[in-house]
Amino acid sequence: MELTVAQGSLTEIATPLLVVNLFQDADALGGATAAADQALGGLLGRLRAAGELRGKLGETVVVYNQGDSLRAERVLVVGLGPRAEFGLEAVRRAAAAAARRARELRVAEYVTVLHGAGAGGLAPQQAAEALAEGTLLALYRYDHLRTLSDDERFEVQRATVIERDAARLPAIRDGLRRGTLLAEATMTARDLAQGPANLVTPAYLADQARAVAERHGFACQVYGLDEIRELRMGGLLAVNQGSANPPRFVVMRYQGPGARKRLAVVGKGITFDSGGISLKPAEHMHYMRHDKSGAAAVVGFMQAARTLELPVEAIGIFAATENMPSGSAYRPGDVIRSRSGKTMEILNTDAEGRVILADALTYAVEQEPDAIVDLATLTGACVVALGHVASGLFSNDEQLTALLRQAGEVSGERVWPMPMWPEYGDLIKSHIADIKNVGGRAAGAITAAWFLRHFVQDRPWAHLDIAGTAWTESAWGELPPYLLKDAATGVGVRLLVHFVRQWTA
Ligand code: BES
Ligand code: MN
Ligand code: ZN
Repeated sequence: MELTVAQGSLTEIATPLLVVNLFQDADALGGATAAADQALGGLLGRLRAAGELRGKLGETVVVYNQGDSLRAERVLVVGLGPRAEFGLEAVRRAAAAAARRARELRVAEYVTVLHGAGAGGLAPQQAAEALAEGTLLALYRYDHLRTLSDDERFEVQRATVIERDAARLPAIRDGLRRGTLLAEATMTARDLAQGPANLVTPAYLADQARAVAERHGFACQVYGLDEIRELRMGGLLAVNQGSANPPRFVVMRYQGPGARKRLAVVGKGITFDSGGISLKPAEHMHYMRHDKSGAAAVVGFMQAARTLELPVEAIGIFAATENMPSGSAYRPGDVIRSRSGKTMEILNTDAEGRVILADALTYAVEQEPDAIVDLATLTGACVVALGHVASGLFSNDEQLTALLRQAGEVSGERVWPMPMWPEYGDLIKSHIADIKNVGGRAAGAITAAWFLRHFVQDRPWAHLDIAGTAWTESAWGELPPYLLKDAATGVGVRLLVHFVRQWTA
């Protein structure tokens, strides 16, 4: 799928499908939609009057052109929703809905107006970036493990943004380029997060990180079992010891042009979380192949940082292992010494993410970054608190909190701050070790964050609990049309890119 921009008039361009748009609360059809309506002899206006064109966000209506005032075979009107709620996220969703509909219609290419850059009042470059993101992410599939019919194999080959004003073409072209790179990095994260655990083992995850690094030109170092022993990563080793597959510890480095800040991004890479000896119930256990989504986001972010040439020094770090029960597995009651020297009392082997992140965060601190951001599918409690609408944000730094919240709004990957009052930290005090790995049912997402906080010393740090946002389930009902049902979202990549843009501005 390729996205391009062309100068031209929408009534004169020949195409199987022309996409225009409509605000839900528009009094009259405006701009390009009005021009299309006129060329269609007022058909759109009549549909609007009949209540069939409501302009609800993501609603698509297709009409077939039978006259010759328009050279498009079909016109698709996509809803932009209410004006008051309009923004970049609406552009993504509208573009996504149009792209999905185009694929259903089996058109190999289509022409679209740039949603939001007219009456929507958005800057052409930002609108184009959002349009590219929404389009490409909507057409994403994870299909290489199943047999497709010819019909299912159909792909849209090209979408062209049509623009009348030649002066706006460079900004639109650049926006499309950036949005494409953002979507591609997100798809890298989706592929890794989506992969089943028998395919995406810790070794495979590390190999893929190295392949991405080589393809895009940044550094990647992979540590195996012996080196992880030498690094004295007791947490990672403990969680791994019940598994037949060896662990990996991965460090990626990107040096951006003119970088004045160093960011460490740390991911939880549990390739499968059975719970270990504290075994999970069978029912939803298969979803735990997604427990590597934090690591997947780190790889995707590094790709984006490099391809978008973000002006930052980025260090991408993840620890990867399965969490399995066996005769050699770590046990409830064990006391483990982490790389930092701090000891951890294990009360539940299913609280394993924090145990491996302890070592990864310690490693991150040693790199002396200006900030650390970690991403982890850490707690079911965070899903209870925020559902699937936002990731939990836990931090020791107000500036990071503010910038990440803002990045959440701009990127569409929302985050919501949770309190870190010291009373919560008291819940994980241990009698036998420096800290225990569970603090009881109450405030489970916050006590997990407090556990991580013990390993970042005083570095500015933010933890993103993506347990509720890393994948979708059919049971949730309506999803943004750039997400697949029952699939990885690639959450975190776009959020972090927007964060870095502001943090380094
Ligand atoms: N990977 C899970 C958290 C999780 C649960 C993510 C559901 C997404 C959906 C994590 O390792 C875990 O098992 N956490 C436990 C912690 C508890 C034992 C303190 C949990 O949330 O139940
Ligand atoms: Mn677990
Ligand atoms: Zn887990």
